Amino acid sequence: MKTFALPLAALALLAGAAAPHAALAQTAPQKATAAARDVAHERLWLGSAWYPEQWPESAWEEDLRLMQGHGANVVRIGEYAWSRMEPTEGQYEMDWLVRAVRLAGKYGMKVVIGTPTDTPPAWMTQKYPDTLQVDGSGKRLGHGGRRQFSISSQRYRAFARTIVTKMAEALKDEPNVIGWQIGNEPTDESYDPEARAAWVAWLKQRYGTLDKLNAAWTTAYWSQTYTDWEQVPFNNDKANPGWMLELKRFITSQWRAFHRNQIDALRAVIGDKQFITINFGGLGWANRFDRYDMNRDLDVTSWDDYVGMGHLKPYRNGATHDLVRGWKRQNFWVMETQPGFVNWAPVSNMLYPGETRALAWQAVGHGADAVLYWQWRNALNGQETMHGSIVGPDGKPLPIYTEVQQIGRDFAKASAALAGTTPVSPVAIVQDYPSRWAIDFQLHHKDYDQIEVLLDYYRPLKDALGAIDVVEAAEAPLARYKLVVAPSLNVITEATARRLADYVRGGGHLILGPRSGMKDEYDRLEPVRQPGPLAALLGGQVEQFYALDEEIAVGSGKASIWAEALSTSAPDTEVLLRYGQANGWLDGKPAVISRKVGKGRITYVGALVDDAVMKGLIDGALNDAGVARDFAVPEDVELMTREGEGREIVILVNHGRETREVSLPAAMTDVLAGGRMAKVTLAAEGVAVLRR
Ligand code: GLA
Ligand code: GLA
Repeated sequence: MKTFALPLAALALLAGAAAPHAALAQTAPQKATAAARDVAHERLWLGSAWYPEQWPESAWEEDLRLMQGHGANVVRIGEYAWSRMEPTEGQYEMDWLVRAVRLAGKYGMKVVIGTPTDTPPAWMTQKYPDTLQVDGSGKRLGHGGRRQFSISSQRYRAFARTIVTKMAEALKDEPNVIGWQIGNEPTDESYDPEARAAWVAWLKQRYGTLDKLNAAWTTAYWSQTYTDWEQVPFNNDKANPGWMLELKRFITSQWRAFHRNQIDALRAVIGDKQFITINFGGLGWANRFDRYDMNRDLDVTSWDDYVGMGHLKPYRNGATHDLVRGWKRQNFWVMETQPGFVNWAPVSNMLYPGETRALAWQAVGHGADAVLYWQWRNALNGQETMHGSIVGPDGKPLPIYTEVQQIGRDFAKASAALAGTTPVSPVAIVQDYPSRWAIDFQLHHKDYDQIEVLLDYYRPLKDALGAIDVVEAAEAPLARYKLVVAPSLNVITEATARRLADYVRGGGHLILGPRSGMKDEYDRLEPVRQPGPLAALLGGQVEQFYALDEEIAVGSGKASIWAEALSTSAPDTEVLLRYGQANGWLDGKPAVISRKVGKGRITYVGALVDDAVMKGLIDGALNDAGVARDFAVPEDVELMTREGEGREIVILVNHGRETREVSLPAAMTDVLAGGRMAKVTLAAEGVAVLRR
């Protein structure tokens, strides 16, 4: 059983010295050369997922001609084609794949190759049922869908290694292959016997002794004390939150090992040529595993940006792009997005004319260097025949084709101006997965949605600035930011507490939201009141938290869902806001407290407040931290900025249904339309790309 060596981290654990991700650390895999990575960002990429295995070879050329006709310069191939590449066990057929890659090259297309491990072939299911996933209820999955494999099966990993090796051998010298995508949208872990054995081994390495494990999870509670490693449960029940948090870390390590297996196999053949990525799904925010950890072994990150039902929600989707950019703190790819509509929403409606283009430009504005549609052309059968695509079953353009063609023209014009630029912000929102998990395990109020809480802070910040970073509390370089906001940092390890305190002492401005600093890295309650390890620096603490069943008064507005009564202990800790008539317990109590620390400041916001109160808090914090605002734009218009290589690019998207006029602070060069202008008119879903 392969597990990861972490003896040092394990020893240091209960001394509190190791951050959880350090405890999961493995040796780094070989990475692509800077040049092979830079290819992902050297221009704007446009393309789609193409499944040549689903069509007669005689149809390929026309597909590629039409792709070229809308300005595509990249295509993604291979990710579900295992049964075509290995029709029977040990018999490999890669010639068709090589021919498809070469034909794509003939039409000016670079290629990202997907490894097919999301869909094992039927012969494998039949002959080796131990490669199949066992879900959290103990049921073994069967054939006919996808994602039915076990990430923990050594046999499955061996099959994956071999197929990936064969693919790499066939494609390593193809000049138009620029990158690889491992599997597709990692989702479900497995609870099969092999996974269980790996779990026990992982626990042994992490804790060393059961005494340490029992102490970390407080197993004296409800007679949970374990006297044998094999007693530790392994399923997806809702149970001891300390155990659940560790299970999340274990699942993350299993996924990482599953991917690492393929990364190493690829690198053994392709060397450091070509980048390696994963297309993350779950609409970006999903938290089945730690997405920062999952990204550490990749060269480039990517995600699948779907609107689903209804229309683009600019703040939420923009913040999701920022989250993704923060995984590796670099530009990213949108590996999939919808060409108009999906097939899986309760109502799979079409986006408005122009909205697909607005969606693409919003992605670029937030740091995407590629936009690929899922998918080019629907298979004639299979689970997704109703999904939006760019050409129809007849292989001819659908109505969306002309809009994608316009995006192609846009990208061709703007590519050079955007190359080497990225969103740069003086403000960061910090979050992490342990806090996401810990709060979700014990929600206490059904409406406490951490993404919504984050967005409450994000909206007024985004209204003030062209770029906002969303980064990991434990790793991000904080000193570069004037203001750091932690909306729900429930789990604060000693190391993170030190980082945050150093940031404030170094002159940074830190805002902590409710529920911050309540738990340690094992999800244990801090023996100090919130914000636990930062309470002394704040000179104040949470006296009591309250889940609210009604709105209450705070400052000149309202709080709902959650409110904490705060107190101050230091003479220089100020009360910025108080509750009004509330639930009796909270009446007149401090709701927001703040303390100046040298040139820095730490502020604790104890409630979920309405938009007006939040705007007041954020305006005050921006002023206080000396953050200069970007120029104002009308309602519905989003301002996005990218900088680099001496260029400053402004992207404006009108997400509304009305025409809007934007006055620029100075004349700018219109990258798409040409000319210089001091005023821009944006029709509904209109886009402008400007150079300052
Ligand atoms: C029940 C149980 C207690 C405790 C409380 C919590 O009454 O008997 O052990 O779980 O619920 O409300
Ligand atoms: C996901 C998958 C794709 C496809 C799309 C449909 O993102 O990665 O293969 O199923 O959903 O929206």
